[in-house]
Amino acid sequence: MKVEDRIISARRQGDDWQETSLRPRSLAEYIGQEKLKENMRLFITAARERGDSLDHVLLYGPPGLGKTTLAGIVATELGVGLRVTSGPAIERPGDLAAILTNLAPYDVLFIDEIHRLHRTVEEVLYPALEDFALDIIIGKGPSARTLRLELPPFTLIGATTRAGALSSPLRDRFGVVARLEFYREEELLEIVLRAAKILTVDIDGDGAREIACSARGTPRVANRLLKRVRDFAQVRAGNRIDGEVARAALQMLEIDVLGLDQVDRQLLRVLIEKYGGGPVGVETLAACIAEEPETIEDILEPYLMQLGFLQRTPRGRVATALAFRHLGLSTAHPAQETLW
Ligand code: ADE
Repeated sequence: MKVEDRIISARRQGDDWQETSLRPRSLAEYIGQEKLKENMRLFITAARERGDSLDHVLLYGPPGLGKTTLAGIVATELGVGLRVTSGPAIERPGDLAAILTNLAPYDVLFIDEIHRLHRTVEEVLYPALEDFALDIIIGKGPSARTLRLELPPFTLIGATTRAGALSSPLRDRFGVVARLEFYREEELLEIVLRAAKILTVDIDGDGAREIACSARGTPRVANRLLKRVRDFAQVRAGNRIDGEVARAALQMLEIDVLGLDQVDRQLLRVLIEKYGGGPVGVETLAACIAEEPETIEDILEPYLMQLGFLQRTPRGRVATALAFRHLGLSTAHPAQETLW
């Protein structure tokens, strides 16, 4: 099974289109990320009071934590339009020029996966961000000239799972750089209860807590698990989700109490059983579980590191004693003892 198809994948999947109706539409409705919300609220108020565009914002962090949602909210709270696109979707400089020249003054342009912008496209973005200008080259060779086109003021909100993959000239052009954190259990509990209300799902506090605990700190996963547990409850439990029903449903989905699924466990098992807990290079791990190294780095590892199950060291990945214990394995391996 590919990582993207897992029920607990944080990447967007087919029936997540429904997610739109679950998305909070204002900062007041948005649960969690308290510090970021406080900061954004202030920056938005200041920009509105000055009648200015909001400075460009870079949001980074693991997938599914609400970067797109936040961009929508910022546009709404600024009272401006939102244009959504992604790094890989903008293939040529002309595509970006078309987007930029069609923005209304003060609009928000959201570019997801901004680290995947082509270099030639990125270069068009620099003067656009800095001077609200588009430099067009006319002609070729010695007679080539640049023509500067003025753009309306706008706010770019860039989102990325890997801030380190951004070129420094691009990163430096964002006035606000903010990291989204994994959500706490209490916040996810609130998110599950809110989603259940919108979807009119009959769930009690214990049922919601079971889902929140297994959602790997990620609202998108919480909402998806809620829908699958609802399916289970509908067919097997009289349409009502309590703690027991949620546990049974998650067990059927092979998701454990910490939200790990077969792929996570396979990664840890390879690291522990095949390599004595590491250190192992990410390429080797990727080959062992038939995934891309980037998938391991962006999707699997952030949550395993958050749990304290895995460490990135200069010599490779290392499983911690907590990971050994979670899998019911002994840490008494010689390779491990030297590491603790
Ligand atoms: N649904 C998904 N993410 C959410 C959040 N942060 N707050 C409220 N509802 C959500």
